[in-house]
Amino acid sequence: MARETWATRMGFILAAVGSAVGLGNVWRFPFITGQYGGSSFLITYLAFVALVGFPAILVEFVIGRRTERNPVGALRELGSGVWSRAGWLFVVTGFVILSYYSVVAGWFLRYTLIGITEGYTLTDPSEANALYQSVSAGLDAVVFHALFMLLVVGIIAAGVRRGIELSVKVMVPAILVLLVGLAAYGSTLDGASAAYAYYLSPDFGTIAANWTEILPAAAGQAFFTLSLGMGVMITYASYLGEDRNLAADAGAIATIDTLVAVLVGFVVFPVLFSVGIEPGTGGPGAIFVSLTAAFAGIPGGRVLGIVFFGMVGIAALSSAISILEVLVSYLIDEVGVARVPAAAAVGAAVFLLGVPVAVDTIFLGLYDGLAYGILLVLGSLLLVLFVGWVVPDLGREELRKGIADVGGLDVAWIWVVRLPVAIVILVSLILGVTDYVDFLTGGFADWLAAR
Ligand code: PHE
Repeated sequence: MARETWATRMGFILAAVGSAVGLGNVWRFPFITGQYGGSSFLITYLAFVALVGFPAILVEFVIGRRTERNPVGALRELGSGVWSRAGWLFVVTGFVILSYYSVVAGWFLRYTLIGITEGYTLTDPSEANALYQSVSAGLDAVVFHALFMLLVVGIIAAGVRRGIELSVKVMVPAILVLLVGLAAYGSTLDGASAAYAYYLSPDFGTIAANWTEILPAAAGQAFFTLSLGMGVMITYASYLGEDRNLAADAGAIATIDTLVAVLVGFVVFPVLFSVGIEPGTGGPGAIFVSLTAAFAGIPGGRVLGIVFFGMVGIAALSSAISILEVLVSYLIDEVGVARVPAAAAVGAAVFLLGVPVAVDTIFLGLYDGLAYGILLVLGSLLLVLFVGWVVPDLGREELRKGIADVGGLDVAWIWVVRLPVAIVILVSLILGVTDYVDFLTGGFADWLAAR
């Protein structure tokens, strides 16, 4: 059977953007930025995307296009010894991420529905917070988690190509327009100038003093939001023809993804400041509490809210699809399972794994901390070391294809990947593991003890 390729030139970029733009930008970015001090986090994250994220995307692209395989098969084909088995890590990571991703996406579905059935009426942040508590944990959350997983499985079982290409073509421009509008609204709020100061004026002293926490958080956020470290970009690039300029595509994808996240900050922080919520205190609920309170207070807020939450739900869907596609393509290619049963079985397993998160949000910290602090960073480190040191010539050759005038780009890229990028990721990983152990022995142990 001939392997499928993307239908149009734009199809690949759009699918990759669809994977990248999701809850990571809209939900995770603002609360992590708040947690790590606003502007100090923002600048570290931006630097990380440009200096580490961009070269790391190219690493996944060259592996995917070269092998035309799923990530597990790709590493088995190119590598020997332990390398040939490293792809397994991606399967584990995919399970963990999708399980809680689906729970949070379920919250967005629920908030869309709330807008449709009753509207957003709670202007008081503490009431809005009570609503969030009831949506985010318990039976309701389990039901909406199940619903979201059903959607994801349905699309993957039906064949993903047209679904993804079409939805992102509409979704990405729409989300940008909507965010620009909301950001303009944010600028009219009382809290705007305080919010901009908080968000935009980095204090390098703070970064220097807290880099051991900020760096791993920025690393994890960068990999998470760019869908790196678990083979999504390998899989998507495996459907590519050779005429693509991978560097240009990677640049476009990283830029759009970053733009969406930064714009979300221009919406969320002014709103938080104007309702008097300290950023960083809201945690995973920050965006729900602040935005429902805002939508309750502005004319047309109900429609705006429905469109906004619904759009984020769709963005989450196009990301979740990419994760499930990695798991399913592995089962199809390597184990020989047919697409439909593969999608159904993986979907059911992912659902079960996510149930604890839907029951108690302490598990969100447990899963998310493991995924972004350790698994994605480890996955990226392995890939970067692999291309940088094990198959550098092949990597350079693959990168050159489709670039008319490569200059010294391929050489520079390999050297950046070999040393600085690998070292920064390694340091982030060590710090990430330390932070996660702190969480296990601190917050999580306390929670267990209180049972
Ligand atoms: N990049 C997606 C987001 O920002 C999440 C994701 C992570 C998707 C890892 C695929 C792989 O929402």
